[in-house]
Amino acid sequence: MTSTLLPLFKALPAADASVDIWFNDQPLRVPGSRSVAAALLAAGIARFRATPVSGAPRAPYCMMGACFECLVEIDGVPSRQSCMVTVRDGMRIRSQEGARDLPPVAVSLEDAHGR
Ligand code: FES
Repeated sequence: MTSTLLPLFKALPAADASVDIWFNDQPLRVPGSRSVAAALLAAGIARFRATPVSGAPRAPYCMMGACFECLVEIDGVPSRQSCMVTVRDGMRIRSQEGARDLPPVAVSLEDAHGR
């Protein structure tokens, strides 16, 4: 009997599919076809953001979109969950220092989150 269930996990492409990104103006070559968080962690980045109140460093924790510890700015859009975004060649990523700025009046909140 053949199972019709979808696989829970999908195989990642070969490790040779690297992409070039920028993190805080530092060029990095990272594994592609992964989340931004996984790619940055693989490149040795351990500080993704600072808390708005104390400035304490934060890094990804859950890697599944639940904890919001992985927030970064991606291509100018603040507060992106880096564990939920697939890394792409040429991405400009910045650590998020404290609270993000409010979006300009002309940009809706929906656009500010890239959805
Ligand atoms: S690591 Fe928890 S939401 Fe991204």
